[in-house]
Amino acid sequence: MHRRDLLYRLDLQNFTRELLSLYDELIPTEEEEVRRRKFFSKLESLFERELPGTRLFLFGSCVNAFGVCNSDIDVCLSVDEEEPNKIELVVQMATILESDAMLNVQALTHARVPIVKFTEPATGISCDICVNNTLAVVNSKLLHDYAQIDVRLRQLAFMVKHWAKRRQVNDTYRGTLSSYAYVLMCIHFLQQRRPPILPCLQEMRPTYEVKVGSIRCAYYDQVETLRDFGADNKETLGELLTAFFDYWACQHDYNHSVISVRTGGYLSKNEKEWTRRIGNERHLICIEDPFEVTHDLGRVVDKHSIKALRAEFSRAANVVAFDFNPWATLFEPYIPSENTR
Ligand code: GTP
Ligand code: MG
Repeated sequence: MHRRDLLYRLDLQNFTRELLSLYDELIPTEEEEVRRRKFFSKLESLFERELPGTRLFLFGSCVNAFGVCNSDIDVCLSVDEEEPNKIELVVQMATILESDAMLNVQALTHARVPIVKFTEPATGISCDICVNNTLAVVNSKLLHDYAQIDVRLRQLAFMVKHWAKRRQVNDTYRGTLSSYAYVLMCIHFLQQRRPPILPCLQEMRPTYEVKVGSIRCAYYDQVETLRDFGADNKETLGELLTAFFDYWACQHDYNHSVISVRTGGYLSKNEKEWTRRIGNERHLICIEDPFEVTHDLGRVVDKHSIKALRAEFSRAANVVAFDFNPWATLFEPYIPSENTR
């Protein structure tokens, strides 16, 4: 090995060590898990009293294995009606929560998925509740199951989510990507490594199947049998994060390609008919939802935010490739420049 390569290797080992210690810091503590469980059972009792006959389910990062400490809690209210009036229920929940002295209660009735948002005063926990969003409960299980196969997925996704929050590219209201989209990007990326680190669970014999409306959700969920799946691939977290940013900065074909966790590969924008703008959906970066296949998680990205997003991927790729101390620079909080403020 050349001296230059040896130095590069040593740097990568250091980088991985730093990243792993950040990963350890981000994992929610047992204390935090207890606090969340208490919060949820209190919420369950409130709803049993005020909305009898309904049930609450957790979804999102508090159950999908990708929750860092201080993540908010996503809850789904399940009601036994084919087509409930979601807006009415959201308003009703807001009234109930307000009279239970919750803070900052907001009913977002016109969002794509209507929700009520609030904060619990005792714990400071923020929570969103939506209605009959069974698909979100099912896709949270899919993400959780992928996370059991190889720990490098959880490690990589923690780093990517942390980076996206620090660099302000994790906000669908401002045209950047959701945490859910970033986790799908990480799963897809690990399906593509050679040898692969993750399999494609939806291409395997289904052991789990549910129908949500007209959508059939089926995949192999006996993931304990897949624990060695990625063992032939020895890439470290530092190498994977470097390659992830390089992929999204320099290699992804933004004009033609759609990433698809469902097929474990790529689809073309043509075959998905995602080639032109329809209403607010622009398809400038395409990430297929694994179950709701007509849903592009990149649809929120517009012509301004795609520039910001790609500039951040390039910045990250440069930092990890050339910076003397990449770990510190990579996660530096984004500061808007004078002329964009
Ligand atoms: P953090 O809250 O940032 O820790 O991440 P999260 O995993 O909770 O993700 P996020 O808040 O983005 O989304 C919550 C859940 O909503 C996801 O886990 C999905 O199950 C579900 N979901 C389904 N479709 C969408 C979508 O189009 N956008 C978002 N944001 N979430 C979706
Ligand atoms: Mg969440």
